[in-house]
Amino acid sequence: MDLKEQINSEKLPQHIAIIMDGNGRWAKQKGNQRIFGHKNGVKAVREVTEAAAEIGIKFLTLYAFSTENWNRPKFEIDALMQLLVSTIHAETKTLMKNNVRLMAIGNKESLPEPVQKNLYESIEKTSQNTGLTLVLALSYSSRWEMTNAMQRIALDIETGKIKSSDINEQIISNYLTTRGIPDPELLIRTSGEYRISNFLLWQIAYSELYFTSTLWPDFRKDDFYKALIDFQNRERRFGKTSEQINQKNENEIN
Ligand code: IPE
Ligand code: IPE
Ligand code: MG
Repeated sequence: MDLKEQINSEKLPQHIAIIMDGNGRWAKQKGNQRIFGHKNGVKAVREVTEAAAEIGIKFLTLYAFSTENWNRPKFEIDALMQLLVSTIHAETKTLMKNNVRLMAIGNKESLPEPVQKNLYESIEKTSQNTGLTLVLALSYSSRWEMTNAMQRIALDIETGKIKSSDINEQIISNYLTTRGIPDPELLIRTSGEYRISNFLLWQIAYSELYFTSTLWPDFRKDDFYKALIDFQNRERRFGKTSEQINQKNENEIN
């Protein structure tokens, strides 16, 4: 049976987030410049987006550029920004065809003007699409997001919009750039690194983590299906006991 058929359509996560890592090492293995790896990573983005849309996943968040990535050599940053402009521009047609809505999280104002322009155009153009929502994390980091949220909460308290006693988990979620997006049930990281690198720290409180040694440019639909099947075979307990979870499942069946 092929992998796609093994996916249980009744147990799909609503939101999958991916740390797309390993482009530089992939290029190096092939005796090429790092940017060659980034360029080849676009194919993996296309495959995963298509797979997620086909299966019926509602949200897919891709970590494309972190706050810390601004510390890379200028020529690599410039090449990445250029790649973003051309990719967003070229892929908008495919997003329309697949009914995909584009969104972005992160410090968008810090992006170069041409990236912002293409991004906002594509977001606007795809805004009425009702299938998958593809969320690009650009100039994103969780600590940036939380700092920004706390500043805005403090401001709203100062101006009397909210009271400090109003603050609860839901209010905090509403001040994050992921407002309105459900927390990811599954987080995938490629390239064999076992870390989170400042990604969605609040939102992944109870996510299932899946690590694979596959480098991002090699990641294909089957790799995505494998992660999804692995996820579906886990027992998510949320602090409860296994017995409680199984009891609940039995009650649902009866
Ligand atoms: C991920 O690949 C892409 C970005 C962070 C932009 P890397 O560029 O981090 O590749 P490695 O980890 O050095 O192999
Ligand atoms: C994380 O990858 C950021 C993105 C995938 C955009 P990095 O390659 O930047 O992470 P570290 O530095 O190895 O933790
Ligand atoms: Mg990396």
